[in-house]
Amino acid sequence: MMERNTSLILLVLLVLLNGCFLFEVDGSRTQGKYELIERRKSYEQTSSKPNLELPLRSAFDIGDVQYIVTMNVGTPPQEFFMSLSTCSVLSWIKCRNQCRNCSSEKESPDKRFYQPNKSRSFRTVPCSSSFCTSDLIPAKANEVCPTPDAPCRYDHYRRDGTKLFGTIGNDTVTIRTKSNQKVILENITIGCTEKIKSKIPQPLDGLLGLAAERQSFAAKALRQTRTTSFSYCLVDYLTPINVSGYLVFGGDNQLPNMQETDLLIGHYTWSTCYHLNVSGISVDGKMLDIPSDTWIYNPDGEYGGVMLEVGNPLTSFAAPVYDKLIQGLLPFISKFKKVKGKVLEHCFNSTGFNETLVPKLAIHFGNGAKFEPPVRNYVINQHQDVKCLAFSRFDKLEVSMIGNILQQNYLWEFDVLNDKLRFAPSTCTSD
Ligand SMILES: *[C@@H]1O[C@H](CO)[C@@H](O)[C@H](O)[C@H]1NC(C)=O
Ligand SMILES: *[C@@H]1O[C@H](CO)[C@@H](O)[C@H](O)[C@H]1NC(C)=O
Ligand SMILES: *[C@@H]1O[C@H](CO)[C@@H](O)[C@H](O)[C@H]1NC(C)=O
Ligand SMILES: *[C@@H]1O[C@H](CO)[C@@H](O)[C@H](O)[C@H]1NC(C)=O
Ligand SMILES: *[C@@H]1O[C@H](CO)[C@@H](O)[C@H](O)[C@H]1NC(C)=O
Ligand SMILES: *[C@@H]1O[C@H](CO)[C@@H](O)[C@H](O)[C@H]1NC(C)=O
Ligand SMILES: *[C@@H]1O[C@H](CO)[C@@H](O)[C@H](O)[C@H]1NC(C)=O
Ligand SMILES: *[C@@H]1O[C@H](CO)[C@@H](O)[C@H](O)[C@H]1NC(C)=O
Repeated sequence: MMERNTSLILLVLLVLLNGCFLFEVDGSRTQGKYELIERRKSYEQTSSKPNLELPLRSAFDIGDVQYIVTMNVGTPPQEFFMSLSTCSVLSWIKCRNQCRNCSSEKESPDKRFYQPNKSRSFRTVPCSSSFCTSDLIPAKANEVCPTPDAPCRYDHYRRDGTKLFGTIGNDTVTIRTKSNQKVILENITIGCTEKIKSKIPQPLDGLLGLAAERQSFAAKALRQTRTTSFSYCLVDYLTPINVSGYLVFGGDNQLPNMQETDLLIGHYTWSTCYHLNVSGISVDGKMLDIPSDTWIYNPDGEYGGVMLEVGNPLTSFAAPVYDKLIQGLLPFISKFKKVKGKVLEHCFNSTGFNETLVPKLAIHFGNGAKFEPPVRNYVINQHQDVKCLAFSRFDKLEVSMIGNILQQNYLWEFDVLNDKLRFAPSTCTSD
């Protein structure tokens, strides 16, 4: 078990840093301001709160530091492993309409493709429709439209150089909930990714977009369940596959010790991410000396501030933040022999390591709330005897990003009605 983990950690770390720039570069800006998740008026507060709860597990066994849900798409249903992204509007699946040798492709477990042609409930979104030319702009729909009925196309350019191309349609999604009920969601907009150009392996089938935008899966699931918040609870990424956390739309997920801070959604033109109002970072109770304007998002230059991205394994800080943080952690790191990391910058020989030696990190929010992740959320194993700090540095001006390893062992609730983020430590396994 331990050895299996160790070799997987190596494999996964290779994709870790590359996979860390999951959110897309905005390639197709036109005009206007991104719309918010449709809220307030459109939701009626009902007394009985329905909820839609999906098991959410680590994809570590598949070779990725991502969290995945199982989703059935189309009629009859085709099953896929979808990783979560809180910045992505479009949900997409690796897709193939014509297969050269369908029988062999079907049998091969690593070749799982969505085949819209085989789904009775699939509807192409025409490229001439206003749904394509306006509503789906935040989902990176482009202007290519050879004939009015041709499918709406998209292209995504990610910061790691990965490019995705495909067409957009609607289909029915069937979800098996944690309590083993079947829930059917209609008209879910899905990208059929025909081509991925990437230097790094893409082991998962697709991506579920939970962005702060009307066309995201999160917004649609909230509308269809008539609820106003969603939550996810992330188990430790090394947790075996038979233990799941959960992704839930609606429901009552309050834990007694939840902290609350503002979600800055819809404040900024173009951004579909969940930005946070961070006021500082402390190491062992001492605030790091970071200029306060570093914490403010600049929507024109798309830099500054902090956002939460569950699709990003590492926490990536803008250079001024990263440098001060490492400076603050240096007295601790320098107690150990430095080891050259394969991917991460600060790795050390962990002989004699004890978590109690690691300074306590805290992210402070504008309203006084504090996120104090456990040590295992930021000091991770690379392989036997070697541990690394799970942070990466943006050389350029960027938005700092709280990634999924830092978020693990916590419940995160996105209350989009009240623009609040609530969080509390949780094992995610007890209902
Ligand atoms: C299709 O795949 C099957 C199983 O792998 C193989 O036996 C068959 O020869 C293939 N047919 C073609 C045309 O490639
Ligand atoms: C399947 O879809 C592709 C692309 O949309 C189309 O070119 C093809 O004709 C379709 N095939 C069938 C059998 O419907
Ligand atoms: C796809 O679904 C959206 C709602 O999610 C709807 O507005 C749009 O008209 C649908 N398009 C088609 C072609 O079904
Ligand atoms: C799905 O979208 C189509 C096209 O806009 C519409 O006719 C249909 O009523 C929608 N179905 C649901 C369940 O929303
Ligand atoms: C998960 O599997 C491991 C062994 O593979 C077993 O020891 C453990 O009890 C299982 N946990 C649950 C919750 O089923
Ligand atoms: C770590 O240090 C110990 C003790 O000095 C040594 O035996 C071991 O080989 C080192 N491991 C690595 C990966 O450097
Ligand atoms: C770590 O240090 C604490 C306090 O000094 C001690 O109680 C604990 O046993 C140590 N843990 C390990 C794994 O050595
Ligand atoms: C962040 O919090 C501070 C302190 O409460 C407040 O003054 C400031 O206006 C907030 N910023 C935003 C963008 O909400």
